[in-house]
Amino acid sequence: MPTHTEQKLGWIGIGRMGYAMAERLAKGGCDLAVWNRTKSKAQPLAKHGAKVVNQLEELSGKDIVFVMVSTYDDVKEVVAKVGKPKMIVECSSISLEGSAELRKSLSAKGIEYLAAPVSGNAKVIKAGKLTFVVSGPQAAYAKARPYLDMMGAGSSYVGEGELSRIAKICHNVHLGVVIQSLCEITVLAEKAGMPRHAFLDFLNKSVMGSMFTRYKAPALVNLDFHVTFTPKLLRKDMDLGLDAGRRFEVPMPVAALTRDLLQQMIGHGMTEEDFSTLLLMQARASGIELKPENVQVGDGLAS
Ligand SMILES: NC(=O)c1ccc[n+]([C@@H]2O[C@H](COP(=O)([O-])OP(=O)(O)OC[C@H]3O[C@@H](n4cnc5c(N)ncnc54)[C@H](OP(=O)(O)O)[C@@H]3O)[C@@H](O)[C@H]2O)c1
Repeated sequence: MPTHTEQKLGWIGIGRMGYAMAERLAKGGCDLAVWNRTKSKAQPLAKHGAKVVNQLEELSGKDIVFVMVSTYDDVKEVVAKVGKPKMIVECSSISLEGSAELRKSLSAKGIEYLAAPVSGNAKVIKAGKLTFVVSGPQAAYAKARPYLDMMGAGSSYVGEGELSRIAKICHNVHLGVVIQSLCEITVLAEKAGMPRHAFLDFLNKSVMGSMFTRYKAPALVNLDFHVTFTPKLLRKDMDLGLDAGRRFEVPMPVAALTRDLLQQMIGHGMTEEDFSTLLLMQARASGIELKPENVQVGDGLAS
């Protein structure tokens, strides 16, 4: 098993997720070089020992390069310029087809490839609870696994090829449907007369509560919509799910409806805050105006 300083690591994409993930590797003492299109966002990682590079080509020759950007087009763009690292671990949420195309082109260049999308937002990463779902050659997984472990609560290996992509797409379709449903019932409870914090306290203690519904409670109660995940990125994932549903001939009526509700919100210009602003859409459609309750509610992430 490699020690943390043995493997030379590279990182591409220091956005909300990439920053928090790379920060855990840097703080863990890894030999890490990072690149971000907007260099200033990566700069603070230098104080944890990461080397912030100017050119993607400087990551060529690294043992493992992690990628965390936005869409498949962005992945293609950065990977085309990275030269020849020994392995690429691609963590963005992208399609099955995109991932398969990437695997083919990397294999032709003799670069090992793992598809390793994640579950959790930046706060979840800070709490050490990020999880990965991984597919690709088992030998590559064995090499990358210690670093995946350093970034969170572990990884699930689901097999060869692009299987992890479909697992992640299913996961995020569920995320979209759950947040919409949570917003509907929270507004219903409030319109019927109870404070949101009281309703969510009950829900979150019940069998229907989850890590997700708990960590969304502060946003829904106090209307703190600092972005964790944008409506447009969630729409991308709903679209990936609906595309997969068409490809595998699986009807997805609930996902389709949720995707359109999200589209409606984006059409109203609500793009810059968190995806949980679906709550405000739901309130508007119900003829009520929500106010922050200013009640301290836990996010359930402290262990
Ligand atoms: N946020 C979440 O809760 C969450 C959870 C699980 C998975 N994901 C997935 O993780 C990925 C990243 O999400 P995020 O929330 O971290 O997004 P984000 O904050 O918007 O960060 C996107 C990152 O990608 C870079 N990027 C985008 N297009 C690029 C291009 N063409 N060339 C070079 N760099 C490019 C950005 O660089 P700049 O800084 O220069 O813009 C930034 O570093 C997405 O695929 C998302 O679906 C997100």
